[in-house]
Amino acid sequence: MKKMKIGIVGCGDISGIYMKNLQTAFADRAEVIAVAARTMSNVEKKAAQYGIPKALTVDELMADPDIELVLNLTIPAAHYEINKKALLVGKHVYSEKPLAIELEDGQELLALAAEKGLMIGCAPDTVMGGALQLCRHLIEESAIGKPLSAEVTLHKHGPESEHPAPAFLYQHGAGPVFDYGPYYLSALVSLLGPVREVCTMSGKGFETRTCTVPGPNEGVSFPVEVPTHVTGTALLESGALATITFSFDRWTTREDRMVIYGTEGTLYLGNPDQFGDTVRLMKADESEPSVVQNELAFNENSRGLGVWDMIGAIEDGRKPVASGTIALHVLEIMHALIRSGEEKRFVKIESACSQPPVFQKG
Ligand SMILES: NC(=O)c1ccc[n+]([C@@H]2O[C@H](COP(=O)([O-])OP(=O)(O)OC[C@H]3O[C@@H](n4cnc5c(N)ncnc54)[C@H](O)[C@@H]3O)[C@@H](O)[C@H]2O)c1
Repeated sequence: MKKMKIGIVGCGDISGIYMKNLQTAFADRAEVIAVAARTMSNVEKKAAQYGIPKALTVDELMADPDIELVLNLTIPAAHYEINKKALLVGKHVYSEKPLAIELEDGQELLALAAEKGLMIGCAPDTVMGGALQLCRHLIEESAIGKPLSAEVTLHKHGPESEHPAPAFLYQHGAGPVFDYGPYYLSALVSLLGPVREVCTMSGKGFETRTCTVPGPNEGVSFPVEVPTHVTGTALLESGALATITFSFDRWTTREDRMVIYGTEGTLYLGNPDQFGDTVRLMKADESEPSVVQNELAFNENSRGLGVWDMIGAIEDGRKPVASGTIALHVLEIMHALIRSGEEKRFVKIESACSQPPVFQKG
């Protein structure tokens, strides 16, 4: 397979693991030839650190005829703009999550990609990791019988104790639903298929938050502009019901973030935003779950796996696992979770998608 030439836009916190993995584990399909971002000094530093030949401005990267695929690692507020620019100049796109903030923008990106005959893929690729693929196999092998319901629970006391500049995580396009929803909802769709309707209630535990991370923002308070506790139910196309909670308002150590209840047993997954968290299974005749040995690959931080798969998909003329179609469906679910709480009504999900293909053979 000919290697695809990649230009990366964004060289912040998450970019290092992509650069490392694309130049090692996934280097058989990918060649990172350029990097760009807003601040040229950072771009030059990253290019030197990872031996990337070209340190460019965003406009130079978009105009570079050698680049075939743009990997968008910018902040969510810039995803739509960068994804669109890349498609307009004829490059495939793989974007960090979410695909865009506004639903209409996500729809426009998919339509543009289709019109141009280009592929658009989107994180998270954790659904391709060892843990979620093991869950996928167990469900397909009927280890828990027919899945009837699920619990999807993201809860923590917010990122102000983890992120050095957390204010944006409490603004439109972030909060627990938009920051974590892509992982948890992509996992749900990957395991149980698409969602048809949601109903939620939402609240805000605190009107302001204070950064506690040492650095320039330590002690700085900022307003909370989005709901920080959203809880409700989703009806899946399969008929299964999922109880969904996204909360930044809880002090908790509870570990099982995703539980699937079937007719013959229950499957427990620690954290679906990891590639390889522990999977446990309890059969109907057992009184407690046991850890399932995981012999599948990609249990370590394998960010870039979705790009690697998408390059294969372009080559083979098939759909990628971490597809724009699923990302758009997830974007619509996230908006629906917020809207249902605000408007106090059931919200239907209009976008169609099918369960992504199994990625790792059992
Ligand atoms: N940091 C994490 O642990 C993490 C984990 C998983 C996913 N993500 C996702 O990765 C993406 C990037 O996160 P991050 O933590 O690396 O952010 P960051 O703020 O550390 O870095 C963002 C980069 O994007 C660049 N950028 C921002 N706006 C731009 C624009 N308009 N044009 C060009 N460049 C622009 C910045 O210059 C910077 O280089 C986000 O979508 C985030 O949701 C982050």
